[in-house]
Amino acid sequence: MNTTSQRVLITGGAGFIGSHVVRRFVVNYPNYYIYNLDALTYAGNLENLKDIENQSNYTFIKGDITDASFIDFIFKKYNFDGVIHLAAESHVDRSITDPLAFVKTNVIGTMNLLNAAKELWKDDFTGKRFYHISTDEVYGSLGETGLFKEDTAYDPNSPYSASKASSDHFVRAYGETYGLPYVITNCSNNYGPNHFPEKLIPLFINNIIQNKPLPVYGDGKQTRDWLFVIDHALAIDLVFHKGKNHETYNIGGFNEWKNIDLVKLLCKLMDQKLNRKEGESEKLITYVKDRPGHDLRYAIDANKIKKELGWEPSVTFEDGLVNTIEWYLNNKSWLNNVTSGSYKDYYKKQYHLN
Ligand code: NAD
Ligand code: TYD
Repeated sequence: MNTTSQRVLITGGAGFIGSHVVRRFVVNYPNYYIYNLDALTYAGNLENLKDIENQSNYTFIKGDITDASFIDFIFKKYNFDGVIHLAAESHVDRSITDPLAFVKTNVIGTMNLLNAAKELWKDDFTGKRFYHISTDEVYGSLGETGLFKEDTAYDPNSPYSASKASSDHFVRAYGETYGLPYVITNCSNNYGPNHFPEKLIPLFINNIIQNKPLPVYGDGKQTRDWLFVIDHALAIDLVFHKGKNHETYNIGGFNEWKNIDLVKLLCKLMDQKLNRKEGESEKLITYVKDRPGHDLRYAIDANKIKKELGWEPSVTFEDGLVNTIEWYLNNKSWLNNVTSGSYKDYYKKQYHLN
């Protein structure tokens, strides 16, 4: 890839992972022009990027990837050399109540970007790259053993993972059919600062702060592989610059946790930070009805990216969790802003709890 000067479109850059990627690129590549395209849905928040918003190599574009003519217009206007595509509807529970929204953004939105990139670059693909950010959830659910590898068959179970799987297939198909230079990464569960408090870790941090119940789905024995978001952003940087075209890389934390064990660790760390008696936060754990189609276990074999690109997680889980907890405790106004308004309605509908 060209590392001299290029115009890079990052979609979904006001969201959780996207904001860390935008920051990394704006700061580390002052010779690049970074365009952050985001519709600012409930999950998008420009507060995440306050520290870099005035950098001369950064431009924010408010817009929706489902709007094909707008997407064509900005590709022509800005003449992007590369795309890092993160914009998506990203929450499994919301995909169960409104699957079509996931088809629109994750499938149609990705198609619009693919079409615009193909059209702009078709005469010469040299130095161009379409980088699609995906999830390990496309591989479905593992039993007690085994790991997802890059050639594991897709077997998505939720409307979210089905929509991401579909978009991955379209990206690959544009590579095979039209020669579009693409890379895809499938990453495990991220955690860290700026994570919207609908996902397990930030939701539970917020509830512990407020002494509210911690709604554990089912028996809490489902397993996820957790990665600190800064390490994901580092992997994205490496793959964007050094990954091979038409390849997929799995990214994971080598860090599997059963939900209930993770929740207990979080409670222990929160008790320490909040000067509560040990065991105090654990009393908030409340087992609730299981998520329909709840995948039992995700676990990534991240040896390909480790061997080929020299990437591995740099942050231990406990350090990452402490850093995350401290961020939420130090950024209460961020938390208050995102949990006011429509969040309250979502919370009531999802949990039947106040
Ligand atoms: P997020 O929900 O925090 O952010 C999504 C961003 O996309 C928001 O800023 C939102 O405003 C924007 N967006 C949504 N619909 C849009 C549209 N139609 N047009 C333009 N912008 C739109 O998501 P995240 O957790 O940061 O995930 C980012 C990407 O990484 C997603 O593609 C997701 O599938 C993938 N991913 C996430 C995880 C995870 O653990 N969070 C793990 C692996 C892969
Ligand atoms: P989540 O953060 O939604 O990520 P994903 O479903 O994409 O893995 O959930 C992580 C795990 O935590 C998952 O097994 C579902 C579980 N979970 C709960 O037990 N309670 C909750 O309130 C939430 C949001 C998730």
